[in-house]
Formats: sequence, structure tokens, C-alpha cells
Amino acid sequence: MCGIIGYIGYRKASEVILEGLRKLEYRGYDSAGIATLSGKIQLIKDAGRLDEIHRRRNFLQLEGTIGIGHTRWATHGGVSQKNAHPHSDSHGKIFLVHNGVIENFEELRASLSKKGHRFSSETDTEAIAHLVEEELKKEKDFGKAFSNAISMLKGTWSVVCISEGEEAIHASRNGPPLVIGIGEGEMFCASDVPALLAYTKKVVFLEDGDRAVIKKGGFEIFSGSKRVRRKIHSINWSAQMAEKGGYPHFMLKEISEQPAKIREALSADVDEAAAILGGQEHFTVVACGSSYYAGLVFKSIAQSILGVPCEVILGSEFQYARTGKEKVVIAISQSGETADTLSAARLAKSSGAKVVAITNVLGSSLYREADASVMIGAGPELSVVATKSFTCQVAVLAKIALALGKREKELERLQGVSEKIEKVLESQSKIKKLADRLSRFKDFFYIGRGMAFPSALEGALKLKEITYLHAEAYAAGELKHGPLSLLDKNVVVVALAPADSSFPKTMSNVQECLARNANLVVLSDSKQALGKAKLSLAVPKAEGAEIPLVYSVPLQLLAYYLAVKLKRDPDKPRNLAKSVTVE
Ligand code: AGP
Repeated sequence: MCGIIGYIGYRKASEVILEGLRKLEYRGYDSAGIATLSGKIQLIKDAGRLDEIHRRRNFLQLEGTIGIGHTRWATHGGVSQKNAHPHSDSHGKIFLVHNGVIENFEELRASLSKKGHRFSSETDTEAIAHLVEEELKKEKDFGKAFSNAISMLKGTWSVVCISEGEEAIHASRNGPPLVIGIGEGEMFCASDVPALLAYTKKVVFLEDGDRAVIKKGGFEIFSGSKRVRRKIHSINWSAQMAEKGGYPHFMLKEISEQPAKIREALSADVDEAAAILGGQEHFTVVACGSSYYAGLVFKSIAQSILGVPCEVILGSEFQYARTGKEKVVIAISQSGETADTLSAARLAKSSGAKVVAITNVLGSSLYREADASVMIGAGPELSVVATKSFTCQVAVLAKIALALGKREKELERLQGVSEKIEKVLESQSKIKKLADRLSRFKDFFYIGRGMAFPSALEGALKLKEITYLHAEAYAAGELKHGPLSLLDKNVVVVALAPADSSFPKTMSNVQECLARNANLVVLSDSKQALGKAKLSLAVPKAEGAEIPLVYSVPLQLLAYYLAVKLKRDPDKPRNLAKSVTVE
């Protein structure tokens, strides 16, 4: 997944684009580039992080009030200057940036090569620029030539294109998101809203198959040859919400926002979703990564409270695991753009299922394609790792299950969970010390039972993602069925031991780990449990749906402080991207 942005108006385009790319770097950051139009097109692009390239090459030397920019997460072609976007045609007059995967790019390159085209990169994207060049030989109108070129593509794309002699930006969307920002005498387009917030909150989300011609005074959107209108949304996120606000990393800021954001999530309107889910005899959940773990929490609550069987299937596995008889599918996705989850939801819909989306991004593909959507209200999450979006998903899902079960008392109790998370946040200095003591280890196991097991999975994922250390999670009772053989004095076991019905058995599992000389870290509200291990962390008492909320936050902080100790960048971990828009 990549970050793309375009600007046309009265400001210095390179300034607007550089700032916008900084807000989009969470989408990919192995290389970056900017092209602007000032008579001729001027270009700077290179491998490396955006600001590091800027320090070396100074993007602000680029002139003109029209421009495009890109920050890359490599799919086709390695990380190099030549593979960085923007890419151009043979004569350096047409430049474009792209997010997505062009599945027929090899045959396009082959047929273009036969016509004499030479390529300077290994990317699929470059073929698009040459296609436009080829079409311009037949069609003088740039918009039509661009449209003809786009019609030859197979796969997914958001493409933003400028050309010498064109006082317009041309854009096309098929899959990855593309949003137009509406200004006064200026227009923007970008992969995601945070890039636009400093200038406008009025946005239009392009739909799949849309093509836009964007000029400084306005824009036109076409679907095929037909002109169409798309809804203008007003975004309720402020610009500073997309800033670090004095925190050293977005991740720590977003962890710290959780008490407030969970309160908001618990006030989400779930009526539309409940109307579809009520009375169902079976639930199917599709999601990926942290969102999948939030789905496991929903499964625990829905099955124990409602007695309704619930299957949670990875987005990428749904095509193999589905029955085709699913009546209702809950699709959980922070970004609303994860290709694996989107394709699962679309497949379910194609067999007649109703889709309920649990998402954080207004106007995202999942939001627009679902039969009902519940917004988790987490606000922009700019660190690649999910933190507040995970706990807000859990809060919303718990609210849905408890509302369906008419469990007013538990719902009421859940309102108080934010105070408990505040207490966890107050113990950061202890968690930082714990991280320092654990930083010499390379292998970590996270164990938990019942409602603590999804938190163990999420905690292990956090650690893996940002420290690059090996971590895996097991249901506590499962260790003795094999993984126990890995335990010794070089391994850390993080045991989540809420004093609930699972506690006695979890303590037996803790003993098994101690007997193998593992380095145990116990998280619990029970003094008995905390006394068992040299390293421990007292956690506020939590019951039922509170457990995955209260126990996930110390594990987020543990991963964060370990990453910082190991000099990793917790916001932009290697090889990852915020939302994976390729399957
Ligand atoms: C979580 O820290 C990861 N960034 C990743 O697992 C993420 O949860 C997954 O890619 C799903 O993203 P989504 O919620 O936007 O669909």
C-alpha cells in the first residue's frame, strides 16, 4: 500500500505535497518522490524515508502550483531510485503515481515495447504512463487518452497523473482509496484524509471505476463516459488529530488516547447493526490481524451471552472456509480498505449475506459497501500498529453483543473501563523498566485463557511488529501440548492471569512454565499470581469484556518501550504498511 497525493491551486505545490506525504508515510515509506509542473515537469524521487530524501535533495526547490507525490511500499520492483514514483512516459512529459497492483503489466509492457517503448524501472506503474503516451497519439483530449489507457488495466489502482500543457490533475480509482479535498481556488486528492486536514474538511470519496478531472476551481467525476456526482462528506477530524501533539511517536499518543476513545466507542450507534444481527442463528466474522483478534473477543461474548455460534475467519482464508450459506457477516477493518477483508465481504455479499462493517474510516470501501456500518470513532490512527483502533473495535463489538443480549448491567459496567485503563497508563514507568529488563531476550511467549487469550494474541503481534523479536501467543492450556519443549532460561513467558473463572488453571500453567526455568512475567489483579514471578505487573480488576480492554494496554506499552529501547521506529516498522490493500 502506498500514499499518493495531488495538488492544484495557488500555493507552492511541493510544499503542500511534502507536508501531505508526511501524513501519509504510515501507508508506506521505503521510497518517495514529487513531481511539479511549471512549464516543464520537475522531478525529485529516491529510495529512503521522505525526510531523509528531503534533507539530501530538497523537494522545496520544485516549482509550480500543480504537482503529485508518492510514498511507496514496494510491490513490483525492489526499493530503488528508479522504482520510486512518480513514473513518466518516454519523453518525461506525463508523470503519474499509483497505489495498487496492475495484474496485466507484463503483457502491457510487452506490447508497448514492440511499439518502441523503453522502460527505466521494474514497476507495474511505469507501463501506465507509457499507455497514456500511446493513447495521446490517437486522442488529442488528455482526459479521453487517460481514460482509454486506464480502460486497458487489469488489477487494482488509484492513479494520479499530471502532464505538460495540462492545467488539470487526472485521477482514477479501482480498489485502493482516493479522496478529493475541496478548497477555495485549490483542490487536493490523496489516498487518505489526514493528508488534507490542514487545508479542508470537505471531501469526496471516489468510487471504484471513477475517473476525475481536477482543476483549481472544481472537478468533474466520470463513471465510464457518464458524468456522476459523489456525496460531499464533512470530516470531523481536526488537523491536530493528525499531529503527534508532543508525543515522541504516534503510537504512544494513540495508546494514551484510549480511555477517551473507548468512551466514544461505547457511545457508538449500533442500532442499524443490531437490527441485522438480532435473531440470527449464526455469526460469521471476517477480519485480519488485530481486527481478527477483536473478532475473537466478539465470538467469546456472543457465544457465552447469546448462545449464538460464531465463526471468526481470516479475510484471506474466507474464500476457502466459507459455506456459501452465510446469512450475516461482520467485517472488521480499521481502514476499511484491507483487500483480504474486502474481498471476503464481497464474496459473502455475492452469496446473499448481509454485511455489517465495523470500521474507523468514514467513506472507506467497506463502509460504503456494507449493508450497515458501525463507526468505532477512534479518530485517525497514524502509527502502523493498531492500538486504539483495536480497543475501540472490542468496545463496539462488546456493546453490540451485550445490547443483543439485553445485558444492561454488563453494558453499564463496561462504561467504567476507561478509568481502569487510565490506571494502566499511570503505570508506564513500571512498564518501561520491565521493557528494559526484557530487552536482552529474543524469544517471547504470551499465554492467556478465555477472554484473555485474544489479548495474548494481540500482545504478541504488537511485540513482533515493532521490535522484530520472535513472539507467539498460545492458549495457556495449550503450551503443554508441544510448545513447552521450547521453554528454558532464554525464553520469556508473559502470562495474562485475570482473577476470573480461568484463574486456577492459568496458575497451573504458570507453574509448568516456572518448572522449565522460563522467565515469567505475570500480569494480574491477584496478589497470589503476582507473587509467583520475579517480574510482574499489577493490572486493575477486570471482568468479562473488560479483560481484553484492560489487558491489551499494558502489552501495547510493553511492545512500545521495548521497540524504543531497541532503537526501532514504532510508527513505521520495517516491511509493514498501515492498511494492506493488496491480497
Ligand atoms: C495491527 O497492528 C496491524 N497493523 C495489522 O495486523 C492490521 O490490524 C491488519 O492489517 C488489519 O487492518 P484493518 O483493521 O485496517 O483491516
